[in-house]
Amino acid sequence: MIRTRVIATAASVPEQIITNDDLARIVDTSDEWISQRTGIKERRISSGENTSVFVSDVAKQLMEKAEVTADSIDLIIVASVTPDYGTPSLACMVQKEIGASNAVAFDVVAACSGFIFALSIADKYIRSSGYENAIIIGGETLSKVIDWSDRSTCVLFGDGAGGAYLEKAQDGGILFEEIGSDGKMYEILTAGYTACSNVFNENPAGVDPLWYAHMDGREVFKFATKNVIKSLNKVMEENNITQEDIKYFIPHQANVRIVEVISKKLDIPFEKFYMNIERFGNTSSASIPIALSELDEKGLLERGDQIILTGFGGGMTWGTMLITW
Ligand code: COA
Repeated sequence: MIRTRVIATAASVPEQIITNDDLARIVDTSDEWISQRTGIKERRISSGENTSVFVSDVAKQLMEKAEVTADSIDLIIVASVTPDYGTPSLACMVQKEIGASNAVAFDVVAACSGFIFALSIADKYIRSSGYENAIIIGGETLSKVIDWSDRSTCVLFGDGAGGAYLEKAQDGGILFEEIGSDGKMYEILTAGYTACSNVFNENPAGVDPLWYAHMDGREVFKFATKNVIKSLNKVMEENNITQEDIKYFIPHQANVRIVEVISKKLDIPFEKFYMNIERFGNTSSASIPIALSELDEKGLLERGDQIILTGFGGGMTWGTMLITW
């Protein structure tokens, strides 16, 4: 059977590290509060580089690791809620940067589930058309949509990008997915609103307060635990597997307490969830591929291992994917 296989992974994050103590100097918070409520100790914050810098770096690393040339790339998809422009897409900027002149390139918006949604799309292209390969990246500079005077959101997020190079294969790879959306709940997590201001109306020009990330933390917490648990259960049930068949669960890194609830409710040992939130915070669409790339880089995955990626995010959206490495 034709499958889509992950051949290489890569990540790229800003050099600048902002610790909880650094944040405690600009808002009324503390290392203790942030660590206990979220598990975050520090995050990477851009010193001015825009999202295209990190996603292009990931694409270059992927080509080098997979030992492929730019003109052989068929498809580039970038997931992001913080692109440089409304148009062009980040994927087209990556295409120019790496010289992948034969690729089709476009972006997807599914917030923190974005990488899984992009993988899902690439999997369909590769299995049902002449596409042989794809570069899939999740990348963000969330720091530009954060209100740095709002302690309830500014402590949570970070910048960076991660991605995977995929190829058509005869076995293994992406085995099963469960993705979903619930637009009714979109208002519990928003960012990047731009008002329609023009010379024919009275909307004030300039940055709208809704440009900044707004979140009902408790509602998002409930949404995340409920939907990720349901989604993980469905994937394991429908594939007739248990947590024992899975080497690692790679969850979206939003809050360590969300993962603790999922681990407890599903009776999956916490150590099976790969976590790096303490070093990166929540990087939205980049969080799963950065974690996957770390696992890969550390040599913790062997070909044939089964892994599960699972995430949730704005929209609201969620997605879970079963992969044979
Ligand atoms: N430092 C210190 N105190 C803070 C604070 C901070 N950075 N942020 C909020 N507080 C205060 C609040 O003002 C509140 O004070 P009050 O009781 O005097 O009103 C108190 O801490 C509790 O706030 P609350 O929002 O109830 O805390 P919480 O335990 O729900 O934790 C989150 C807040 C955001 C960490 C948690 O709700 C969460 O992680 N939700 C999910 C968010 C998420 O996953 N978002 C990304 C989706 S992809």
